Amino acid sequence: MGKKYLITSALPYVNNNLHIGHLIGCLLPSDVYARFCRACGRDVLYIGGSDEHGTPSEIGAARENMPVEEYVEKYRAKHLDVVRDFKLSFDLYGRTHTAQHEKLIHELFNRLDSLGMIEEKVSVQPYSAGEKKFLADRYVIGTCPRCGHDKAYGNECEKCGASLDPDELINPHSAIDPSSPVEMRETKHLYFKLSKMQDKLRAWVNSRVGWPKTAITIANKWLDEGLRDNPITRDLKWGVPVNKPGYEDKVFYVWFDAPWGYVSISQIATPDWASWWKNPDCHYTEFMGKDNVSFHSVFFPAQELAMDDAWKTVDTLKAFNFMNFNGAKISKSTGNGVFLDAALDIAPSDCWRYALLASAPETDDTDFTMTRFAEIVNKDLNGLLGNFVSRVCKLSNKNFGDTVPAGGAIDETLAHRVNEKLAELTGCLDACEFRKSIVALRDIYGIANEYMTEREPWTLVKNGDTAGATAVLNECFQLIDLFARVSAPVIPDAAEKIQNIFDIKHDLSWPTMYEHRIESGEKFTVPENLFTRIELESTKE
Ligand code: 2FM
Ligand code: ZN
Repeated sequence: MGKKYLITSALPYVNNNLHIGHLIGCLLPSDVYARFCRACGRDVLYIGGSDEHGTPSEIGAARENMPVEEYVEKYRAKHLDVVRDFKLSFDLYGRTHTAQHEKLIHELFNRLDSLGMIEEKVSVQPYSAGEKKFLADRYVIGTCPRCGHDKAYGNECEKCGASLDPDELINPHSAIDPSSPVEMRETKHLYFKLSKMQDKLRAWVNSRVGWPKTAITIANKWLDEGLRDNPITRDLKWGVPVNKPGYEDKVFYVWFDAPWGYVSISQIATPDWASWWKNPDCHYTEFMGKDNVSFHSVFFPAQELAMDDAWKTVDTLKAFNFMNFNGAKISKSTGNGVFLDAALDIAPSDCWRYALLASAPETDDTDFTMTRFAEIVNKDLNGLLGNFVSRVCKLSNKNFGDTVPAGGAIDETLAHRVNEKLAELTGCLDACEFRKSIVALRDIYGIANEYMTEREPWTLVKNGDTAGATAVLNECFQLIDLFARVSAPVIPDAAEKIQNIFDIKHDLSWPTMYEHRIESGEKFTVPENLFTRIELESTKE
């Protein structure tokens, strides 16, 4: 086996239907990278899963009037459908509400505690007398002391922009149960002494290479402002219980337990998990949206480094900006966006995979529209890829039967052009540059199309130049075989269909060079159309 690659995709909260923003923000690019690495013969562990704890689940469950466990199950089932339908090739799509996860978090907490990295502090927090529980600042509502706005939050007033503490609000009450007044009460919490990690973390961040600018900027902003100790417990019922006497009615903060979910899910995925997680030679890539960066670049690695237990820290942190839809934020409440439970009614998963990667918000927030979607699918997939495959197979079949016609030596000019693009594509995928990868991939399709247009095998046939025609068609079959290999990470379904054109199953390993693998005389079947054009009208709904 080759070198070890650990790949994780951020664990989405199970409180919503997933949409194209989730797909492009971590799930899909991590899958493409994992498929690419495997095709290169690398030893991959690719982990994802559900982040089941935290206030998002608690509040969602309350809103839908359901026990949290049931609520979490409901949305997890929907997320698993997405994993299946969009062909996300996780080694395990796990979850954080497991016995293994709880055990791990308890061990890690004990380890940090034994190293003097945990401190108990008493603080005054908003308490809802009616609900008999402490509230997060965001769930306290009252009148702003600055501007008089009567729906200010315990952490900020959205009207005047003031940042607030909950005890500053006039007439504070609970956002969840507005009839319940809120008072300030003493409570104790455990803090992770993040401040002690300032120097070590700075040195670690400086030693990282290949992070996107967004990620570096966010990490440095935190370091420049100075790291502050962080509370890692919450007055909630849903979560990992705190394994310390006196904390029986509290749970760990969701961002303390969630990133370690990558480890606990790995432990469930394979008994060999430590050969990735404790291996300094392993390469670790994380995928996430930019809102997750501070936790993955500061909070999580600081804990790993503090333990001094050779935990693998992230090498490449691939962060994405946001994807908007029709010029506005994707949102369930406004109904703006494409939700993944409905997306496949519009087009098959390969089309979404390709078009979203072609529009990946890598350097800036980007806007996605159905017009853009249809254009990309029609031009690239249906036009350059699908038509080429279908024309070659039909023309060859009509004139020379159902076996690959005789060819000659590789066309050196063509090979040179293809190899240049192939090197570019390989480099881009290796560097997790997805938009550029799609450009290079499309260029390979383009070169093949130009080759066929220039050589006009149909004219050669008409003029009776059989040897000339079969040589060109043979070369085109070699290109089709190449298409299957280079397309497989991005559009796995189409790649499999192309692979199945030939009676002999040629592997989809990643090519280092364009080569002739298809023998003359190999049997082939003319495939159904690989793609169908998308008519904008039909996508309106
Ligand atoms: O933003 C989110 O949906 C978080 N649940 C991501 C967590 S990533 C990891 F730390 F688990
Ligand atoms: Zn205000």
